[in-house]
Formats: sequence, C-alpha cells, structure tokens
Amino acid sequence: MENKNVFIMTHPLIQHKISLLRDQRTGTNEFRKLIEEIATLMGYEALSDLPLEDVEVTTPIETCMTPMIAGKKLAIVPILRAGLGMVNGILALVPTAKVGHIGLYRDHETHEPHEYYCKLPSPIELRTICVLDPMLATGGSAVAAVDFIKQHGGKNIKFMCIIAAPEGLKRLQEAHPDIQIYIGHMDRQLNENAYICPGLGDAGDRIFGTK
Ligand code: PRP
Ligand code: URA
Repeated sequence: MENKNVFIMTHPLIQHKISLLRDQRTGTNEFRKLIEEIATLMGYEALSDLPLEDVEVTTPIETCMTPMIAGKKLAIVPILRAGLGMVNGILALVPTAKVGHIGLYRDHETHEPHEYYCKLPSPIELRTICVLDPMLATGGSAVAAVDFIKQHGGKNIKFMCIIAAPEGLKRLQEAHPDIQIYIGHMDRQLNENAYICPGLGDAGDRIFGTK
C-alpha cells in the first residue's frame, strides 16, 4: 500500500510524552494533560500545509502584504469519547476552528463501531477537517467517522491518532486512500480483544477516569 498520505511522528518530545501516557501509573489528570500536549505538537505538523493568502496589514512602521490562513479554515471532529481529549490541544493552535462531534462505541464482542451521536459544522465542504481519536485499533471507528464526514460533503480530511496498530492503518488506508493520516507512534499489533499492544489501555477510560 502506497504510504505518501501517512505521516508518522518522530519528534523526541512527542515520543517522550507517548511513553509517559503508556505508563499504567500515569493518573487521569496527567494523562489528560499529556493527550492535549501531544495533540498540539502533532497539530503543528498536521496543519503545516494550511493554505495562506497575503493580506494588507499596517504596522507601526508601514503598510505591507503579509500571509494569513486563507479560506474557510478548519473544522475539528473528535470521535467520542476519547477524541475529546485532543480538542483543546488543536484549539490552542487554531482557536477559531469549528468543532463537530461523532459518537461511536466499539461493541465488546464484535469490536465493530456503533454510532450514537453525530453533528458536523455546516457547511463543511470547503473546510479542512481534522478527525481526532487517540487510538486507531481495528480501524472500524475511523473508517465509520470518515464515511460519515464524506456523506455530508467533507473532502479535505486529515485523521490524527496518537497510537496506531498496523491492522487499523491498513483498513483506514484501504477504505479512504485520499485522506492524510498522522500517527504519533506505530505499535506492534492488536491482541485477541482488539486492544493495541503495547498501547496504553482504554484511552476513553484513562481520560475520563471511568472503568
Ligand atoms: C476507542 C477509541 C477509538 C476506538 C478505536 O473508543 O477511542 O474510538 O476505540 O478502536 P477501533 O479502531 O477498533 O474502532 P471506544 O469505542 O472504546 O469508546 P470510548 O472512546 O467511548 O471509550
Ligand atoms: N481503544 C482503546 O482505547 N485502546 C485500544 O487499545 C484499542 C481501542
């Protein structure tokens, strides 16, 4: 499979923070902060191709043409629940971004995603859309979220996850070869319960302190 749309992070700060996330001793408060910080660092990379246009600005010295983000800007779409943990990290970079939500949970037996809530900013067609979910495991949730966004007219889609399994990356690439995929770290494999190994456990539970 062609990899030109897949970006795997190598920055030492991102790798260090992911290692802290993995540690089972990391409590909810620190876990949340780390997820947000990693989202900001990854967002800096993922948004490096936002289009610019020159606008006129008057400085205290003179008037000049200077670049600003062009067009309809950004929509952020977290996959509930765990994707919520990444939202403020991206809003720190682009405070004016619109935020949609896609609610999916994985069935414990089949591991297939079930939809329970979806609301996107409208119109969505001209926006760059960043789908956020810390975990790309089987890929079922990511594929369903991108399906939904495309059905509503979304075109320029980026998927950002902190940890991915090879199985999930393959499934997402096969279903949506046109989207850009940003990954904090590629892990080894899924286990028999479709959890990522070594992973970090259940991201939603660790962010929200549930079990
Ligand atoms: C987790 C995670 C992803 C999904 C990944 O959510 O946040 O959305 O699993 O798994 P997949 O790639 O196999 O679909 P979960 O369904 O546990 O819901 P939660 O975020 O509400 O805990
Ligand atoms: N969802 C999670 O939160 N963790 C995994 O390892 C797999 C799916």
